[in-house]
Amino acid sequence: MLIDCDPGLDDAIALLAAAHLTDLVGITTVNGNVGIEHTTHNALAVAQVSGRDIPVHRGAERPLIAPTIDAAYVHGATGLGSVEIPNLERDIDSDDAVGFILDMARSVDDLQLVAVGPLTNIALALRRDPSLPSRLGGFTIMGGGAHVGNVTAVAEFNVWADPEAAAIVFREFPMTTMVGLDVTHRVLMGATDRDRMRAAGGPAATLAADLLDFAVVRADEIAGRDGAPIHDATAVMSVVAPELFTGIERPVEVELSGTITRGMTVVDDRPGGRAGEGPAPANACVLLDADEQAVIDGIVDAIIALDAS
Ligand code: BDR
Ligand code: CA
Repeated sequence: MLIDCDPGLDDAIALLAAAHLTDLVGITTVNGNVGIEHTTHNALAVAQVSGRDIPVHRGAERPLIAPTIDAAYVHGATGLGSVEIPNLERDIDSDDAVGFILDMARSVDDLQLVAVGPLTNIALALRRDPSLPSRLGGFTIMGGGAHVGNVTAVAEFNVWADPEAAAIVFREFPMTTMVGLDVTHRVLMGATDRDRMRAAGGPAATLAADLLDFAVVRADEIAGRDGAPIHDATAVMSVVAPELFTGIERPVEVELSGTITRGMTVVDDRPGGRAGEGPAPANACVLLDADEQAVIDGIVDAIIALDAS
């Protein structure tokens, strides 16, 4: 697996889970929840805490066209809540995330590319090498939603932060697994999960517990949720345990010019498609439901096991 991300509380938890559950060949970073300096620094710090030797490559510092926005109001000014970020023992492997993604797609059999931040790096990779989709074992994003938004009533953060990039991605990939808010808002982690990880006590579990503490408070303050959606780790779980999820294959397009709908992922659910033409070919598997408890336990178990291995 290769994870393109913008850590980010839930990105960090996703990286820790993936470090145990997958052969994680690398991490690429993108501007998103916070600026690229922070997301890259955080990716290096999380890789270090994981105890694994995971290459980190820095990517895009701004969206393709849209003005830069962030989600520091959710993730804190550094992106990792109130966690004290450890001093780094090593630097990035390169500042060419796009080149690294393309190299890995060519050299790793059946690579699973999982993008859990704005899709800027992925769109740039498609522009540099349009054959990217055919070289992958699978492509999964955390982003969008069939019936729901978070930044706006209909737009989810990762798509809204760089809608032009997301539009390119949905257009160019023949099949994207879309782990959107429909499913990630069901996978809420809370005090029980935090306590399990804190009791386990290793460095990865302690970091995840600290991140979760911050995320739970913000989820309550922002949305009145009893538990924090761990969007990005849910996307990782959809790749390693697809049997825990259900979804539908549909045509999906990104709205770019609506005054109140920009950044919306428009899922075409019409059985007959456009009148007289039949349904358009599906380009996405839109996940809608999950065995929430099994997904949460999978994440927590993986992070605890990471410390033990
Ligand atoms: C997505 O936006 C970010 O804030 C999270 O890290 C996640 O990838 C959820 O909308
Ligand atoms: Ca993210």
